[in-house]
Parts: sequence; C-alpha cells; structure tokens
Amino acid sequence: MKTVFITGGTSGIGWALAQRYLSAGYRVGIGSRTPDKEGHDFTPYTHLFVYSVDATDLTALKDTIHTFSQGQLDILIAGAGNYTDSALEHISWQETNAMIDNNIKATLNALEVARELMQNKGGTIACIASISTFLDYEEATIYTRCKQAVLAITKAYRRAYRDKGIEVIAIHPGYVATPRLMELNSDDLSKKQYVITPTEAAEIIYHGITQGKQLIVFPKKMYRLIRCLQLLPKGILQRIMHKKAKWQKQN
Ligand SMILES: NC(=O)c1ccc[n+]([C@@H]2O[C@H](COP(=O)([O-])OP(=O)(O)OC[C@H]3O[C@@H](n4cnc5c(N)ncnc54)[C@H](OP(=O)(O)O)[C@@H]3O)[C@@H](O)[C@H]2O)c1
Repeated sequence: MKTVFITGGTSGIGWALAQRYLSAGYRVGIGSRTPDKEGHDFTPYTHLFVYSVDATDLTALKDTIHTFSQGQLDILIAGAGNYTDSALEHISWQETNAMIDNNIKATLNALEVARELMQNKGGTIACIASISTFLDYEEATIYTRCKQAVLAITKAYRRAYRDKGIEVIAIHPGYVATPRLMELNSDDLSKKQYVITPTEAAEIIYHGITQGKQLIVFPKKMYRLIRCLQLLPKGILQRIMHKKAKWQKQN
C-alpha cells in the first residue's frame, strides 16, 4: 500500500488532500498542532493516522513521520502554513515570526525529513506555496514574501535532491474556500477572484503530483491574469495593487 504524509493535513486544503489520497487507496498520515480544531470525524477511515505535531520542530516532525511511515514513504506534502490579513501597515514582529516559522521553517523541516526517508529509495515531496508568489510588486505582503522564499527553497532543493531520486514539487494555489480563508474574510469571498473549493484544489494537486509535474499552479485563469499583470510597468502594477488592497479593505 502506498503512503503519504501531509503536514497541515487536518484542515482546509490538507484535509481535502487526505480524503483524496484515502479514496485512491493510500495509507495516509496527517499532522498539525491541534488536529481536532475543525471538528472532523477521523474515525471512519481505517487507513488514516492522525498526529499532533508542530512542523517547526524538526525532531518532533522526524519522529512523527518515521513512526507513521515505518521507513517507507512515497509522498510527503508540506502543507502546514499560516496566513493572516496582513496589510503592510499592520506588520508586526509576532505575525512575521509566525509566518517565517510556519511557512518557511516548516517546509525546510519537511524537506529534511524527505531526504532522510526517501534518499536512494525514491519519493516525492510537494511543498505548498501560493499563486501570489508570481506577482512581484513593491507592497506585496509578508505572507507572499514568505511563500516566495518557499518557492526559492523548493527550486534549490529540486536540484540538490535530483541525484537522490527525490522529486521536489511546488504547489501554488489561488483562492481556495477553506474555513481559514472564510474566517479571514468574514465568510464573504465575493471580492476574491476565481475561488475554488478545497475538494477541487485537492483533485488538481492529486493529479499534478501523480503526473510528476514540477510546478502545480491553479486556477489557470488566475495564473494567466497574474502573468498579464506582471508584464505591466512596475509603477502601474503597484498602483493597481494598492487600489485593489484599499478597495477590499473599504468594501
Ligand atoms: N486557502 C487558500 O486560499 C490558500 C491559497 C494559497 C496558498 N494556501 C496555502 O495552503 C496551505 C493550506 O491552507 P488552508 O487555507 O487550507 O489553511 P488552514 O485550513 O489553516 O490549514 C493550514 C494547516 O496547517 C497547520 N499548521 C500551521 N502551522 C503548523 C505548524 N507549525 N505545524 C503543524 N501544522 C501547522 C494548521 O493546523 P494547526 O494550526 O492546528 O497547527 C492547519 O491544519 C497553507 O500553506 C496556505 O498558506 C492557501
């Protein structure tokens, strides 16, 4: 039986992915700091293993994934992540520190666990960044900057892990209507473009990983829009993004 471990797999995109892999016949491990936060009923799933683990703690993450995999792991999905409604003027040390830890350090730790478990055996590690990484402008949020770091690290590790037989994949979702995104937007996602459900996101990610894609970016319409915006002169792009952020805040 094939195995997958998903950090941050107890809610949102991670939980939808866990369900997708269970339905495909995988043995699935999921871990987060508070697994019962969303109130999901994990008991009906015979091949699901749920762990309480902080992905920023390398030793704890290693122990957890070793216990789950018993030396055989096919896929590791680094999905643990943290985001807030972080307009630049509200930047704080606490928020930035949490973003760096939960997005960057947690990904780096997952890459290290993948090396230990997969080198010379083969395997895949998929790291969740964000579609916002492709829109580079002056006032991008700390969250986007962290996810750009995740993308940069993923690219460097892809080259380094190639000889070890480990595939490194970067995943860039657009807006996905997870409970966390809903909470941050007071349950109103009407101002967000091209929103999809966690189940739709999981389907795209599952097939992307199965096909061995290095880069999984969705929804395509959003990606096209971003690539067009990125062609604009920097000053114009900055003005558009500034106006958009203000409009979203006021309405
Ligand atoms: N939803 C979107 O629109 C969207 C768009 C682009 C990218 N993303 C990315 O997709 C991923 C999932 O997002 P989501 O919307 O599904 O959010 P979510 O429901 O809040 O899921 C994030 C998961 O990560 C876990 N987590 C956070 N820090 C952790 C840590 N230090 N150790 C272990 N687990 C940790 C959380 O659980 P605990 O808090 O209990 O630990 C939670 O299970 C994130 O990386 C996010 O940045 C989301």
